[in-house]
Amino acid sequence: MPTPSSFNTSSSISKSQFPDNFVWGVATSAFQIEGAAAIDGKGPSIWDEFCRVPGAIADQSNGDIACDHYHLYEQDLDLIKELHVDAYRFSISWPRVQPTGSGEWNEIGLQFYERLIDGLIARGIKPYLTLNHWDLPAALQHQGGWENRETVYRFVEYAKGIHERFGQRIVSIATHNEPWVVATLGHEQGIFAPGIKDRAIAAQCSHHLLLSHGMAVQELRRAGATYDLGIVLNLAPMHPATDSPADVAKTRLEDGKLLRWYMDPLFKKSYPDDILAYLGSDAPILHEGDLDIIGTPIDFLGINYYSRTMVSAGDPWDPKSHGKAVSDMGWEIFPEGLTELLLRVHHDYDVPPLFVTENGGAFKDHVGEDGRVHDADRQDYIERHIAAMHLAMKKGVKMGGYMVWSFLDNFEWASGYEKRFGIVHVDYDTQRRTLKDSALWYQNFLHQANTNGK
Ligand code: FCB
Repeated sequence: MPTPSSFNTSSSISKSQFPDNFVWGVATSAFQIEGAAAIDGKGPSIWDEFCRVPGAIADQSNGDIACDHYHLYEQDLDLIKELHVDAYRFSISWPRVQPTGSGEWNEIGLQFYERLIDGLIARGIKPYLTLNHWDLPAALQHQGGWENRETVYRFVEYAKGIHERFGQRIVSIATHNEPWVVATLGHEQGIFAPGIKDRAIAAQCSHHLLLSHGMAVQELRRAGATYDLGIVLNLAPMHPATDSPADVAKTRLEDGKLLRWYMDPLFKKSYPDDILAYLGSDAPILHEGDLDIIGTPIDFLGINYYSRTMVSAGDPWDPKSHGKAVSDMGWEIFPEGLTELLLRVHHDYDVPPLFVTENGGAFKDHVGEDGRVHDADRQDYIERHIAAMHLAMKKGVKMGGYMVWSFLDNFEWASGYEKRFGIVHVDYDTQRRTLKDSALWYQNFLHQANTNGK
């Protein structure tokens, strides 16, 4: 395996162009890597249940073993350290620490995260914690899940429990990862857990996710939080496929559903009128004061960026058939979209420092005869997106950090293990980890600056 200094890059972007306190990291989530789905007192999550639905997961797989990170975390932490990152973004599995989502805590589960967090700190890596990366305790789903306002209060209790146990040791808490995905893919399209197809339920869920975010932020501040508090959204620029009035109108609508529906309540304390009108009687039920709670100021906004969306009022616009470069997910590779998105968020809203909390690509990887994974496509993707973010910073956007999705190949939700996003390859038969060329590039990118007088 080459050493960082022997790994050449032709890139013009370098870490030394970023501020000293800029945070570089890698990201994962609990369900996608941990495995150990039903041991040591962990309760089932909605994803454990959803994986059992015939046809729900492309390769009929589940999260029972995944990357077995629950058992292999020490070696994974060593690998993270080898990358020279400043931070590791991970999530806590709520049903591992509180099996039914209310009442009893599971001490063995808490101890796992204790070892993980202490292991990060011992290695000089900052823990960036996400409370909800989609794996809601199944017991709460059986009482209505995010549709039920009670879940909001359960989430706040869970957040307080995590604060009490780990609040002194972490530097950042994100309440939710991508509430749009939970609401829309999970409750309107039904292609993600819990597999519901109902627009009104989805809208109610989105409101409860946002409300639970705001309430948790308030409660954790009251409890004396010293770390940064925020939320992570999946955002994308929307472009009309043609300049026809129908495409342009649909683009505005889709932008409202993805971006303004979440950004407006968080930063303007209101839901966008056009989307409320579009939802009609499917619009969520709000209690007085909810929007004030949702709009509680936060310390950072996490943005997950993968691609832009081309919107057509007719047939869906397929980037590949339009000659665009795509990842293995079929998503267009469009780094310029990240610059555009960051500038737009910066101009349209009064936002705290932004983090790119996820960015990366799925590509077909092979461990070669030389034992290496030559993923030039992924390296190029990451490099170009870092440059695109840098351009936004030069134009005035305040950025706090950048995290690659993902540290490891892992369970890619409804795509199962067929899609590989890791900069570290996982052989699922042996659980052997191999740093791909993209990891070696990232390591070099981070390390060179450290050794160049920084
Ligand atoms: C995001 C998710 C993350 C991963 C990437 C590819 O939507 O937050 O868990 O699946 O997409």
